[in-house]
Amino acid sequence: MKDKNLLTIESLNKEEILEILDAATLMKQGNYDKNLLENNILASCFFEPSTRTRFSFESAMYRLGGKVISLNGEEASSMKKGETLFDTIKVLGSYADIIVLRHPLEGVAKRAAEAVDKPIINAGDGAHEHPSQALIDLFSIRESQGSLENLNIAVIGDLLHGRAVHSLVLAFLNFCNRLFFISPEEFSLPKSLSNKLRAKGIPFSFNKNLDDIIDNLDVLYVTRIQKERFYDKYDYLGVKNSYRISLEQLRGCKSNLKVFHPLPKVDEIDVNIDNSPYAYYFIQATNGLYVRQALLAKLLRKL
Ligand code: CP
Repeated sequence: MKDKNLLTIESLNKEEILEILDAATLMKQGNYDKNLLENNILASCFFEPSTRTRFSFESAMYRLGGKVISLNGEEASSMKKGETLFDTIKVLGSYADIIVLRHPLEGVAKRAAEAVDKPIINAGDGAHEHPSQALIDLFSIRESQGSLENLNIAVIGDLLHGRAVHSLVLAFLNFCNRLFFISPEEFSLPKSLSNKLRAKGIPFSFNKNLDDIIDNLDVLYVTRIQKERFYDKYDYLGVKNSYRISLEQLRGCKSNLKVFHPLPKVDEIDVNIDNSPYAYYFIQATNGLYVRQALLAKLLRKL
Protein backbone atom coordinates (compact mmCIF):
# COMPACT_ATOMS: atom_id res chain seq x y z
CA MET A 1 0.00 0.00 0.00
CA LYS A 2 1.47 3.33 -1.04
CA ASP A 3 -0.45 5.41 1.50
CA LYS A 4 0.43 4.93 5.17
CA ASN A 5 -3.19 5.62 6.17
CA LEU A 6 -6.61 4.43 5.09
CA LEU A 7 -8.64 7.64 5.15
CA THR A 8 -10.59 7.10 1.94
CA ILE A 9 -11.06 4.03 -0.24
CA GLU A 10 -9.88 6.20 -3.14
CA SER A 11 -6.33 5.99 -1.78
CA LEU A 12 -6.24 2.32 -2.85
CA ASN A 13 -5.89 1.28 -6.47
CA LYS A 14 -7.46 -1.91 -7.80
CA GLU A 15 -4.28 -3.94 -7.33
CA GLU A 16 -3.96 -2.83 -3.69
CA ILE A 17 -7.61 -3.62 -3.02
CA LEU A 18 -7.23 -7.12 -4.46
CA GLU A 19 -4.04 -7.67 -2.45
CA ILE A 20 -5.93 -6.89 0.77
CA LEU A 21 -8.81 -9.18 -0.23
CA ASP A 22 -6.37 -12.00 -1.02
CA ALA A 23 -4.63 -11.51 2.33
CA ALA A 24 -8.06 -11.58 4.02
CA THR A 25 -8.78 -14.91 2.32
CA LEU A 26 -5.63 -16.36 3.90
CA MET A 27 -6.74 -14.93 7.25
CA LYS A 28 -10.15 -16.57 6.87
CA GLN A 29 -8.48 -19.89 6.05
CA GLY A 30 -6.41 -19.56 9.22
CA ASN A 31 -3.30 -19.50 7.07
CA TYR A 32 -1.28 -16.83 8.90
CA ASP A 33 1.32 -16.26 11.60
CA LYS A 34 -0.60 -15.87 14.87
CA ASN A 35 2.21 -13.62 16.22
CA LEU A 36 2.44 -11.42 13.14
CA LEU A 37 1.64 -8.24 15.09
CA GLU A 38 3.37 -9.19 18.32
CA ASN A 39 4.72 -6.04 20.02
CA ASN A 40 2.30 -3.82 18.09
CA ILE A 41 -0.37 -1.75 19.82
CA LEU A 42 -3.62 -0.51 18.30
CA ALA A 43 -5.30 2.63 19.68
CA SER A 44 -9.02 2.13 19.17
CA CYS A 45 -10.67 5.58 19.35
CA PHE A 46 -14.44 5.76 18.99
CA PHE A 47 -16.41 8.98 19.36
CA GLU A 48 -19.58 7.33 18.02
CA PRO A 49 -21.23 4.01 18.90
CA SER A 50 -19.96 0.90 17.14
CA THR A 51 -20.33 -2.84 17.45
CA ARG A 52 -18.75 -4.37 14.34
CA THR A 53 -16.01 -1.90 13.49
CA ARG A 54 -14.65 -1.45 16.98
CA PHE A 55 -14.80 -5.06 18.12
CA SER A 56 -13.62 -6.58 14.84
CA PHE A 57 -10.59 -4.27 14.72
CA GLU A 58 -9.79 -5.04 18.35
CA SER A 59 -10.33 -8.78 17.87
CA ALA A 60 -8.23 -8.69 14.67
CA MET A 61 -5.36 -7.12 16.60
CA TYR A 62 -5.53 -9.71 19.38
CA ARG A 63 -5.78 -12.59 16.89
CA LEU A 64 -2.54 -11.45 15.28
CA GLY A 65 -0.74 -11.30 18.62
CA GLY A 66 -1.03 -7.52 19.08
CA LYS A 67 -2.44 -5.44 21.93
CA VAL A 68 -5.17 -2.80 22.14
CA ILE A 69 -5.66 0.44 24.06
CA SER A 70 -9.00 2.16 23.66
CA LEU A 71 -10.72 5.50 24.02
CA ASN A 72 -14.50 5.63 24.14
CA GLY A 73 -15.76 9.16 23.62
CA GLU A 74 -14.75 12.51 25.02
CA GLU A 75 -16.18 11.83 28.48
CA ALA A 76 -13.53 9.21 29.24
CA SER A 77 -10.51 11.27 28.21
CA SER A 78 -8.93 14.66 28.89
CA MET A 79 -10.95 16.04 25.99
CA LYS A 80 -13.57 16.43 28.72
CA LYS A 81 -11.18 19.03 30.23
CA GLY A 82 -10.93 20.86 26.93
CA GLU A 83 -8.01 19.15 25.22
CA THR A 84 -8.35 19.14 21.43
CA LEU A 85 -8.83 15.97 19.40
CA PHE A 86 -5.68 16.95 17.50
CA ASP A 87 -3.57 16.93 20.71
CA THR A 88 -5.29 13.76 21.93
CA ILE A 89 -4.46 11.86 18.75
CA LYS A 90 -0.92 13.24 18.74
CA VAL A 91 -0.33 11.79 22.21
CA LEU A 92 -2.04 8.48 21.43
CA GLY A 93 0.17 8.23 18.36
CA SER A 94 3.19 8.16 20.66
CA TYR A 95 1.70 5.28 22.68
CA ALA A 96 0.40 3.13 19.81
CA ASP A 97 1.64 1.87 16.44
CA ILE A 98 -1.65 2.33 14.58
CA ILE A 99 -4.87 4.26 15.27
CA VAL A 100 -8.45 3.43 14.32
CA LEU A 101 -10.67 6.50 14.58
CA ARG A 102 -14.44 6.95 14.32
CA HIS A 103 -15.90 10.42 14.70
CA PRO A 104 -19.22 12.10 13.80
CA LEU A 105 -17.54 14.93 11.86
CA GLU A 106 -16.52 14.58 8.22
CA GLY A 107 -12.81 15.01 7.58
CA VAL A 108 -11.68 14.40 11.16
CA ALA A 109 -9.64 11.30 10.28
CA LYS A 110 -7.78 13.29 7.61
CA ARG A 111 -7.06 16.07 10.08
CA ALA A 112 -5.95 13.57 12.73
CA ALA A 113 -3.55 12.01 10.23
CA GLU A 114 -1.77 15.37 10.08
CA ALA A 115 -1.12 15.15 13.83
CA VAL A 116 0.78 11.84 13.86
CA ASP A 117 3.17 9.83 11.75
CA LYS A 118 1.50 6.51 12.73
CA PRO A 119 -1.04 4.97 10.35
CA ILE A 120 -4.65 6.10 10.84
CA ILE A 121 -7.66 4.12 9.70
CA ASN A 122 -10.83 6.10 9.16
CA ALA A 123 -13.46 3.96 10.88
CA GLY A 124 -16.24 6.31 9.75
CA ASP A 125 -16.22 10.12 9.68
CA GLY A 126 -19.74 11.45 9.75
CA ALA A 127 -21.63 10.87 6.51
CA HIS A 128 -18.40 10.92 4.51
CA GLU A 129 -16.64 7.54 4.26
CA HIS A 130 -16.08 4.17 5.89
CA PRO A 131 -13.32 2.64 3.74
CA SER A 132 -12.65 -0.58 5.69
CA GLN A 133 -16.38 -1.39 5.38
CA ALA A 134 -16.06 -1.12 1.59
CA LEU A 135 -13.21 -3.65 1.66
CA ILE A 136 -15.41 -6.01 3.68
CA ASP A 137 -18.24 -5.50 1.21
CA LEU A 138 -16.00 -6.25 -1.77
CA PHE A 139 -14.56 -9.32 -0.03
CA SER A 140 -18.05 -10.62 0.73
CA ILE A 141 -19.37 -9.94 -2.78
CA ARG A 142 -16.38 -11.72 -4.32
CA GLU A 143 -16.72 -14.62 -1.89
CA SER A 144 -20.41 -15.10 -2.65
CA GLN A 145 -20.33 -14.41 -6.40
CA GLY A 146 -16.87 -15.66 -7.34
CA SER A 147 -16.12 -12.33 -9.05
CA LEU A 148 -16.16 -8.57 -8.66
CA GLU A 149 -17.04 -7.90 -12.30
CA ASN A 150 -20.09 -8.21 -14.55
CA LEU A 151 -22.59 -8.26 -11.72
CA ASN A 152 -25.96 -6.57 -11.46
CA ILE A 153 -25.80 -4.71 -8.15
CA ALA A 154 -28.60 -2.71 -6.52
CA VAL A 155 -27.90 -0.35 -3.62
CA ILE A 156 -31.00 0.69 -1.70
CA GLY A 157 -31.59 2.99 1.27
CA ASP A 158 -30.14 6.24 2.56
CA LEU A 159 -27.61 6.91 -0.18
CA LEU A 160 -27.13 10.53 0.88
CA HIS A 161 -25.94 10.03 4.44
CA GLY A 162 -24.64 6.44 4.27
CA ARG A 163 -20.84 6.53 4.57
CA ALA A 164 -20.61 2.79 3.87
CA VAL A 165 -22.43 3.38 0.58
CA HIS A 166 -20.15 6.29 -0.31
CA SER A 167 -17.00 4.22 0.15
CA LEU A 168 -18.54 1.25 -1.65
CA VAL A 169 -19.51 3.37 -4.67
CA LEU A 170 -15.97 4.78 -4.80
CA ALA A 171 -14.61 1.22 -4.60
CA PHE A 172 -16.88 0.24 -7.50
CA LEU A 173 -14.97 2.72 -9.69
CA ASN A 174 -12.35 -0.05 -9.97
CA PHE A 175 -14.72 -2.74 -11.26
CA CYS A 176 -17.13 -3.01 -14.14
CA ASN A 177 -20.62 -3.84 -12.90
CA ARG A 178 -24.13 -2.58 -13.66
CA LEU A 179 -25.30 -0.48 -10.72
CA PHE A 180 -28.86 0.41 -9.72
CA PHE A 181 -29.59 2.99 -7.01
CA ILE A 182 -32.89 3.14 -5.14
CA SER A 183 -33.62 5.59 -2.34
CA PRO A 184 -36.27 7.87 -0.89
CA GLU A 185 -36.22 10.95 -3.14
CA GLU A 186 -34.54 13.24 -0.62
CA PHE A 187 -31.82 10.66 0.13
CA SER A 188 -30.35 10.00 -3.30
CA LEU A 189 -26.68 9.48 -4.06
CA PRO A 190 -24.58 12.68 -3.90
CA LYS A 191 -23.88 14.12 -7.37
CA SER A 192 -20.15 14.08 -6.70
CA LEU A 193 -20.32 10.26 -6.63
CA SER A 194 -22.60 9.79 -9.64
CA ASN A 195 -20.32 12.15 -11.60
CA LYS A 196 -17.34 9.93 -10.77
CA LEU A 197 -19.20 6.82 -11.93
CA ARG A 198 -20.13 8.59 -15.17
CA ALA A 199 -16.56 9.75 -15.76
CA LYS A 200 -15.35 6.14 -15.35
CA GLY A 201 -18.00 4.81 -17.73
CA ILE A 202 -19.62 2.60 -15.08
CA PRO A 203 -23.22 1.92 -16.17
CA PHE A 204 -25.77 2.97 -13.53
CA SER A 205 -29.33 4.21 -13.13
CA PHE A 206 -31.59 5.64 -10.46
CA ASN A 207 -34.62 3.40 -10.08
CA LYS A 208 -37.88 3.97 -8.29
CA ASN A 209 -38.94 0.42 -7.67
CA LEU A 210 -36.92 -2.61 -6.57
CA ASP A 211 -39.49 -5.01 -8.02
CA ASP A 212 -38.76 -3.70 -11.55
CA ILE A 213 -35.15 -4.89 -11.42
CA ILE A 214 -34.97 -7.59 -8.77
CA ASP A 215 -35.21 -10.55 -11.18
CA ASN A 216 -31.82 -9.74 -12.70
CA LEU A 217 -29.89 -8.89 -9.56
CA ASP A 218 -26.84 -10.73 -8.24
CA VAL A 219 -26.27 -8.39 -5.31
CA LEU A 220 -28.80 -6.45 -3.25
CA TYR A 221 -27.03 -4.07 -0.87
CA VAL A 222 -29.43 -2.63 1.70
CA THR A 223 -28.76 0.22 4.12
CA ARG A 224 -30.75 1.77 6.93
CA ILE A 225 -31.91 5.37 7.14
CA GLN A 226 -29.10 7.21 8.95
CA LYS A 227 -31.41 8.98 11.38
CA GLU A 228 -28.52 10.29 13.50
CA ARG A 229 -27.26 12.36 10.56
CA PHE A 230 -30.32 14.53 9.97
CA TYR A 231 -32.09 14.77 13.34
CA ASP A 232 -35.50 16.41 12.68
CA LYS A 233 -34.81 17.73 9.18
CA TYR A 234 -36.79 14.96 7.44
CA ASP A 235 -39.80 12.84 8.29
CA TYR A 236 -37.98 9.76 9.62
CA LEU A 237 -41.02 7.48 9.78
CA GLY A 238 -42.07 8.51 6.28
CA VAL A 239 -38.73 7.63 4.68
CA LYS A 240 -38.14 4.60 6.89
CA ASN A 241 -41.34 2.98 5.77
CA SER A 242 -40.78 3.77 2.10
CA TYR A 243 -38.78 0.55 1.55
CA ARG A 244 -38.63 -2.77 3.36
CA ILE A 245 -37.30 -5.93 1.74
CA SER A 246 -39.60 -8.93 2.19
CA LEU A 247 -38.84 -12.61 1.62
CA GLU A 248 -41.71 -12.72 -0.89
CA GLN A 249 -39.96 -10.08 -3.01
CA LEU A 250 -36.91 -12.32 -3.32
CA ARG A 251 -38.69 -15.51 -4.35
CA GLY A 252 -38.07 -16.34 -8.01
CA CYS A 253 -34.91 -14.23 -8.17
CA LYS A 254 -31.58 -15.49 -9.52
CA SER A 255 -30.33 -18.42 -7.45
CA ASN A 256 -27.05 -16.63 -6.73
CA LEU A 257 -28.75 -13.47 -5.39
CA LYS A 258 -27.37 -12.44 -2.02
CA VAL A 259 -28.52 -9.65 0.28
CA PHE A 260 -25.83 -7.54 1.92
CA HIS A 261 -26.07 -4.90 4.62
CA PRO A 262 -23.23 -3.14 6.49
CA LEU A 263 -25.35 -3.45 9.66
CA PRO A 264 -26.76 -2.41 12.03
CA LYS A 265 -30.10 -3.12 10.39
CA VAL A 266 -33.27 -1.77 11.94
CA ASP A 267 -36.37 -2.97 10.10
CA GLU A 268 -35.50 -2.43 6.43
CA ILE A 269 -35.06 -6.20 5.98
CA ASP A 270 -37.77 -8.64 6.99
CA VAL A 271 -36.36 -10.88 9.74
CA ASN A 272 -37.58 -13.92 7.77
CA ILE A 273 -34.76 -13.24 5.33
CA ASP A 274 -32.15 -13.73 8.08
CA ASN A 275 -32.32 -17.52 7.87
CA SER A 276 -32.92 -17.71 4.12
CA PRO A 277 -30.22 -18.60 1.57
CA TYR A 278 -30.33 -14.97 0.38
CA ALA A 279 -28.96 -13.43 3.58
CA TYR A 280 -25.25 -12.72 3.50
CA TYR A 281 -25.10 -9.85 5.99
CA PHE A 282 -24.06 -11.83 9.05
CA ILE A 283 -21.32 -13.59 7.06
CA GLN A 284 -20.34 -10.11 5.82
CA ALA A 285 -20.03 -8.91 9.43
CA THR A 286 -17.88 -11.93 10.30
CA ASN A 287 -15.70 -11.25 7.27
CA GLY A 288 -14.95 -7.88 8.87
CA LEU A 289 -12.58 -9.68 11.19
CA TYR A 290 -10.48 -11.24 8.40
CA VAL A 291 -10.43 -8.12 6.25
CA ARG A 292 -9.36 -6.00 9.23
CA GLN A 293 -6.65 -8.53 10.16
CA ALA A 294 -5.32 -8.17 6.62
CA LEU A 295 -5.59 -4.39 6.71
CA LEU A 296 -3.78 -4.03 10.03
CA ALA A 297 -1.00 -6.33 8.85
CA LYS A 298 -0.65 -4.43 5.57
CA LEU A 299 -0.60 -0.98 7.19
CA LEU A 300 1.91 -2.15 9.77
CA ARG A 301 4.04 -3.44 6.86
CA LYS A 302 4.02 -7.03 8.12
CA LEU A 303 2.54 -8.42 4.89
N1 CP B 1 -20.97 -1.50 9.78
C1 CP B 1 -20.58 -0.78 10.87
O1 CP B 1 -19.81 0.18 10.75
O2 CP B 1 -21.11 -1.22 12.03
P1 CP B 1 -20.83 -0.55 13.46
O3 CP B 1 -21.44 0.85 13.43
O4 CP B 1 -21.51 -1.44 14.45
O5 CP B 1 -19.36 -0.46 13.66
